[in-house]
Amino acid sequence: MKLRWTFVLALLVQRSALASTPAKRSYDTHDYYALEHDPRAGASLDEVVRSLGVELVERVGELQDHWLVRTERPEMTSRSNDPDPVLSKFNTLRARASSGANAHVLLRSEQKLRTQALVSSLKYLERQVPRQRTKRAPPSVQRPSESSSAGVAQRLGITDPMFSKQWHLVNDENAEHMMNVVPVWEMGLTGKGIISSLVDDGLDYTSADLKENFDADDSYDFNDHEPLPTPKNFDDHHGTRCAGQIAAGKNNACGVGIAYNSKVAGVRILSGPISDVDEAAALNYGFQNVSIYSCSWGPPDNGQAMEGPGYLIKKAVVNGINNGRGGKGSIFVFASGNGAANGDQCNFDGYTNSIYSVTVAAVDYKGLHPYYSEPCAANMVVAYSSGSGKNIVTTDKGKNECTQGHGGTSAAAPNAVGVIALALEARPDLTWRDVQHLCVESARMINPDDPDWEPTATGKLYSYKYGYGVLDATRFITAAKSWKLVKPQAWFETPAIRLGNGTMTAEEEYSGGQFIGKGGISSTMTITKEMLVQNNFETLEHINVKVWIDHTTRGDVEIEIISPNGVTSVLAKKRSGDRAHSGFPGWMFMSVKHWGEDPVGNWTIKVTDQHTPKKSNGTFLGWNMKFWGSTIDPSKARKYEVPLVENVLPVHIDPPPLPSTPTTTKVLTKPTAHLPDDHGSAPGENTNPAFSSVGASGPTGTPNPTADVGWFPSLSNLVANQKWFFGAVGAVALFGIGMGVFFWRRRKARLANYSTLPAGDDLSMSALATGRQSGVMTGGNRPTRELYDAFGEVSDDDDDNDENTALRGTHPQDRVSTGLGFHSGFLDDDEPSTAGGPTPVYRDEPEPSDERKGSPSRAASPGSPSGSGGSWEHAS
Ligand SMILES: *[C@@H]1O[C@H](CO)[C@@H](O)[C@H](O)[C@H]1NC(C)=O
Ligand SMILES: *[C@@H]1O[C@H](CO)[C@@H](O)[C@H](O)[C@H]1NC(C)=O
Ligand SMILES: *[C@@H]1O[C@H](CO)[C@@H](O)[C@H](O)[C@H]1NC(C)=O
Ligand SMILES: *[C@@H]1O[C@H](CO)[C@@H](O)[C@H](O)[C@H]1NC(C)=O
Repeated sequence: MKLRWTFVLALLVQRSALASTPAKRSYDTHDYYALEHDPRAGASLDEVVRSLGVELVERVGELQDHWLVRTERPEMTSRSNDPDPVLSKFNTLRARASSGANAHVLLRSEQKLRTQALVSSLKYLERQVPRQRTKRAPPSVQRPSESSSAGVAQRLGITDPMFSKQWHLVNDENAEHMMNVVPVWEMGLTGKGIISSLVDDGLDYTSADLKENFDADDSYDFNDHEPLPTPKNFDDHHGTRCAGQIAAGKNNACGVGIAYNSKVAGVRILSGPISDVDEAAALNYGFQNVSIYSCSWGPPDNGQAMEGPGYLIKKAVVNGINNGRGGKGSIFVFASGNGAANGDQCNFDGYTNSIYSVTVAAVDYKGLHPYYSEPCAANMVVAYSSGSGKNIVTTDKGKNECTQGHGGTSAAAPNAVGVIALALEARPDLTWRDVQHLCVESARMINPDDPDWEPTATGKLYSYKYGYGVLDATRFITAAKSWKLVKPQAWFETPAIRLGNGTMTAEEEYSGGQFIGKGGISSTMTITKEMLVQNNFETLEHINVKVWIDHTTRGDVEIEIISPNGVTSVLAKKRSGDRAHSGFPGWMFMSVKHWGEDPVGNWTIKVTDQHTPKKSNGTFLGWNMKFWGSTIDPSKARKYEVPLVENVLPVHIDPPPLPSTPTTTKVLTKPTAHLPDDHGSAPGENTNPAFSSVGASGPTGTPNPTADVGWFPSLSNLVANQKWFFGAVGAVALFGIGMGVFFWRRRKARLANYSTLPAGDDLSMSALATGRQSGVMTGGNRPTRELYDAFGEVSDDDDDNDENTALRGTHPQDRVSTGLGFHSGFLDDDEPSTAGGPTPVYRDEPEPSDERKGSPSRAASPGSPSGSGGSWEHAS
């Protein structure tokens, strides 16, 4: 009877769980878990939930059969090495299900069968840890010098008072450097009917400039779990500013947006810690009506982190790609990052190096590369932003406010979003890949003498700093109007080539490998015509290169890939701030530089380090590649799905030991704390290659190497962060009941879902006497070995975090962030309001001692800037 009642309750919960509005979270009283339920495996969701002793909360965003559950937190007596109760329950069930589970035992109790059904119904279980995503904050700014032009305004009847200062729309001083939208407006395109979602820190829908274009239905606050994305923290102006660039109305307030008749929704995630469940839901929020997700944030840009999205987030992104926008795919636009001065590169960020992102870097109003904008082979295009004395002028938080201080790659991404919104008005049928093709095809070259431009195999030019060039609205929309849709996506993945019998276990224990000596290591794989045909693969778009490298100093490692046509993609250049000793445990790089190239032939990877073997050294264990492109036969296209377990190559995996300590949370600190206060005024450059020659250090324009290196490793145990990740894989056991592989994610300084190298087998490896390794894939077509990771792998490199923790106490500019982990490093900066009288001016950090002359004086930030993002509610 009681049971029945529970069941009814569960049904009710389930029904309400399907409602679209997420329930409020209470991480301080409950532990949350995400699970994936396989209804075909024989146990109902209700059974699974009961057997784990948890309560069903709701479905995970838009992911089918993924559920958020919770359980009350144990009393405060809980010590950091008590086992996780839910995990323990699952382990007990697993043990019970597998005991005596060998093929010769024919008699089994009904109960064991139920248990086995239960265990195999639970494909995935992960504790949710709120984490802090970091805004792509512009470094602080300079008031721009006066410039004005009223011509276009008069012609088009634009009365917005700040329009003449919006040089990214009409640039009087350097007419070739602007987004070039006016001709598109004159074609009658203004973004009507297109919705962009600002996944950010809120959106001020009361703003006179935005309220007409605000889409409340597709907005949500995932920080405070409220329907509207109200900016609440003192510096929650980032999302509003980005929204203004896209959809500020043509009215009498501030300026105009690029797609000023389009709509903007606000999804608030950056104003406090957020767990993967909510980030996943945010990236699919309203994904049938929303076309474009504007994302100006990411892991820290400190030149030390190597991080990407977790499993659920990757799934959400692929879900958006496969099912969003009626199946045409959500458009994800990501800012490339502001960490170039820290030696950071966007290929160390799993969001920007995802094939699903349009990754946008910045150029300034003179068309120069601003020193903050991160280079890498995943950059697709650039858009205009701050530098050389000017910033982006856009709507600000408040009833009728305007800022002249927006910038960084944060402001480049929304400019791209606005252009894509205009294009989608003209061509709503464009898929996510058509949009990327149009970027590649229509981008406008700038600074032709810049040595960073290199020819690709198709005759185009590519630059790590500029991608394929500037996203120019007129060129983009003109190309879009006559664009023939591409065929569906095809892909294939190569088996891993192993060097020196290199292996890596699920716990990221490396063994074997080849020592990286003087001159580095090269390894070659051959792609054949047959492999393409077998995989229904016609033309190449993105490539992924996944590497397993064990190294004492990750930042010393440099990696490049050379295509059969001799085109080189630099994947990793020295990062002097990155002292992590966790290596590259299956990290996946991405390059768009080979777009359109014929992939048949030999691909050679070169791995080198700084060759100081006594101090720092490592081994190269293996690598593989994934090729993405279009199909030969569209009717045989298959949609990509994120594999549950990405290290499926070993024939047999022993379950790893049970975790002995529960999850704790960690704080992702601000990345941009080292940036000087001059991102808007510092002159850009167009004379330096982004990546100097092998062995030389630093990216372009690195003004001052950070001093904060070299002493962190001893702190690496301060923060523990673990999650558990179970995969029950259908397998050989009796009755078709699969038994599981589970592994334990995010253990200190290591990351979980890196692929494991094969333990033996099927690659013919031939070591050459020259010290090179080469492997020719004999199996040819083994395409669906699910090694692939949709998004570059995640590194929860706690070393980095520890480093930051340490830094906070050391560097004055980091001090405010202690215990907040969020706003303090946000090098965003308010200019005095131009529209509504003087507003308070904040700085997020104490002014650097070498304060630039002429800077307006700025008040220090309030001591406790973050309303909801305070401490980790969850920390134990
Ligand atoms: C999405 O669009 C459809 C059709 O235009 C509309 O009926 C629906 O209400 C919209 N949903 C949201 C959440 O805006
Ligand atoms: C790799 O393993 C094979 C078989 O186990 C062995 O014959 C070979 O010598 C090993 N090679 C290296 C470089 O360790
Ligand atoms: C490709 O690599 C294989 C193995 O290293 C080699 O035998 C072959 O000659 C190479 N082909 C070309 C075109 O370089
Ligand atoms: C590699 O570096 C470590 C210190 O990081 C050192 O102890 C070891 O001797 C080095 N190995 C070689 C072969 O130089």
